[in-house]
Amino acid sequence: MNRTLVLLKPDAVRRGMIGRIISRFEDAGLRITQMRVLSPPGKNLIRKHYDASEEWLSNVGRKTIKDYESQGLTPDDVKKNYGTMEESDIGRVVQQRLVDYLSHGTVIALAIEGNGAITKVRKLIGFTIPAQAEPGTIRGDFGCDSTVNAAVERRSMENLVHASDSDETAEREMNLWFSSHD
Ligand code: PPS
Repeated sequence: MNRTLVLLKPDAVRRGMIGRIISRFEDAGLRITQMRVLSPPGKNLIRKHYDASEEWLSNVGRKTIKDYESQGLTPDDVKKNYGTMEESDIGRVVQQRLVDYLSHGTVIALAIEGNGAITKVRKLIGFTIPAQAEPGTIRGDFGCDSTVNAAVERRSMENLVHASDSDETAEREMNLWFSSHD
């Protein structure tokens, strides 16, 4: 048995998808044990949530460049939209846009428990970029945004949910969203 943190992001709330997304977790045998509605969360809390390592920043940059390449776009297009081609600098732009995005709408934090909850939830939500996420997953079934669409409009990609990716992250994020008064 383990537990994980899921955030329903402002696009999920705005589009009235909360019930359908929560049903996916419950249908899979997982239990919602805590819920907190933040309208909107404070910027400090979100900054702490996305207080990223260099590795996180580079990974995000790498994934973004790969998404551009998969759509036949060039490093110049990346530079045009992000102002840089450096992986970690792209990561910083994404981080800033995520903070802006989550602090301008309602976010619902969920604590979810069950056997192998962290892995199971990550499988249920699917790949980061909705346009490429598998059908059958939450991001694949309910979204079609991409890094390119988002960057052209100078906004964060809308991918409905966040989920912790390890035991360590889950504990840190759970404390942040359920104990903090930010
Ligand atoms: S994931 O789904 O957790 O594996 O995502 P990851 O690749 O680790 O990315 C970390 C977070 O950055 C978001 N992300 C982006 N947002 C906007 N634009 C671009 N290009 C982009 N690339 C990644 C991604 O959704 C992750 O945020 P959370 O809140 O965890 O979903």
